[in-house]
Amino acid sequence: MANQEDNLFKNVIAHAKEYGFIFPSSEIYDGLSAVYDYGQNGAELKNNIKEYWWKFMTMLHENIVGIDAAIFMHPTTWKASGHVDAFNDPMIDNKDSKKRYRADQLIEGYIEKLEEKIEKEVEKAAKRFENFDRAMFVSTNVRVLENQKKIDEINEKLKDAMGSGNMEALKQLIIDLEIADPISGSRNWTDVRQFNLMFSTEMGSLADDTNKIYLRPETAQGIFVNFLNVQKTGRMKIPFGIAQIGKAFRNEIVARQFIFRMREFEQMEMQFFVKPGEEMQWYEFWKEKRMKWHNALGLGEANYRFHDHLNLAHYANAACDIQFNFPMGFRELEGIHSRTDFDLKNHEKYSGKKLQYFDPEDNQNYIPYVVETSIGLDRMFLAVLSKSYQEEKLADGSERVVLRIPAPLAPNKVAILPLTKKDGLPEKAMEIMNELKFHVRCFYEEKDAIGKRYRRQDAIGTPYCVTIDHQTLQDNTVTIRHRDTMEQERVAIDSLKTTLTEACSINNILKRI
Ligand code: GAP
Repeated sequence: MANQEDNLFKNVIAHAKEYGFIFPSSEIYDGLSAVYDYGQNGAELKNNIKEYWWKFMTMLHENIVGIDAAIFMHPTTWKASGHVDAFNDPMIDNKDSKKRYRADQLIEGYIEKLEEKIEKEVEKAAKRFENFDRAMFVSTNVRVLENQKKIDEINEKLKDAMGSGNMEALKQLIIDLEIADPISGSRNWTDVRQFNLMFSTEMGSLADDTNKIYLRPETAQGIFVNFLNVQKTGRMKIPFGIAQIGKAFRNEIVARQFIFRMREFEQMEMQFFVKPGEEMQWYEFWKEKRMKWHNALGLGEANYRFHDHLNLAHYANAACDIQFNFPMGFRELEGIHSRTDFDLKNHEKYSGKKLQYFDPEDNQNYIPYVVETSIGLDRMFLAVLSKSYQEEKLADGSERVVLRIPAPLAPNKVAILPLTKKDGLPEKAMEIMNELKFHVRCFYEEKDAIGKRYRRQDAIGTPYCVTIDHQTLQDNTVTIRHRDTMEQERVAIDSLKTTLTEACSINNILKRI
């Protein structure tokens, strides 16, 4: 990560703590690695993101319904889904630093550095030549070509080793590339071992293997095992979808980068059941829809891109990520996967229960194919928070930190601020608050100078401040101060409810999709 982005990321993390968005879990005991708590403002923002996703799925699509399945599931679920046998990451330890890494990520990091080298060559050349043609340069420059060839070869070897589970080959690649521990610089590595990411515990009073159950590593399986329950009770016709928001748990080997990779996190997943053979058209449909959902938020279209999976999971016949430009660069925000009939077929096999759909149009039974959209709620939170965070120098030489969170997602929509604590202004302000609080989330404050109060609201992303002054008592008008422009306008109290409710409604964003 370049220094500037590194600093920005550190500032975002510090800001999130200082203003009640995110705290390290059980901080008084020095925290718990890769586990976080959401504070008073974080919980509101998180709930608003959930609402935006939930309404998009279940209100804008008449053929999608939502469920809320339990975290604990019958242990055979995870045998059938492949998680017991194959939900592994390859881990490697450095004997000198005693640090643990994901072997595939060490190699990917090496590839990223080679890619950066290519980009630097390209940038240098672009500065040198006026009529610079990138494609032409890349295809003729020897150093760039050599590096690109090397990247392709490493990728091929990585793919083979991961695909076949060949841990020796993975270690050999690390040795051949002379990859060193980023902290100690040492190349003294252990063998690579597979590490299962599922957390387990015991159910009931007997702590033996027969009572072993898992904390779900994805919410999707709660949807698959309920597929027929929902289809029958909801009289759903294919194509249809089941959506769910809930906690998932993964014992990540390397969990860092704040809430980007956590051990306890939340997913928002939707499984869309389709007729076999029609999955690719629905896969394209959901790619487009999900990208529109992201873009409607207005965080900047250039901050999103698709990244196709070259290395397909055993259950998928197509898969891609929507990547977001986080402070540490473009990273996976959401996955869109065409999962074939893998999960339902295996649950049918392991449970011995039929999980088929009777298609009245074709007069036949079949196991539907599934297209899944899966987004991490915490990653979405980080995307919104990091892009909203801005440090600004103002015309008068002062500085402010502002969170330009899209108004419908902001923790508080309106701050109600009497100019002074006397002359009946607080009473008038409370009167306004008592009317508005049924429509938008309000925050009341009368302490400190008005400028200081505005800055505090900027820092938690409140899009509107309503100020009650002496003129208010005479003509029933107030000023609305806009967070992004800092402009103020005088409006009638009567107009507040309609204007502010409309401006802060999630429907406003949904209509753009
Ligand atoms: N059901 C499919 C599935 O779980 P995934 O790519 O493993 O697919 C989906 O996860 C999304 O969940 C990711 O795109 C990411 O946003 C989020 N996610 C996965 N692991 C995470 C972690 N350790 N911390 C935070 N979010 C995570």
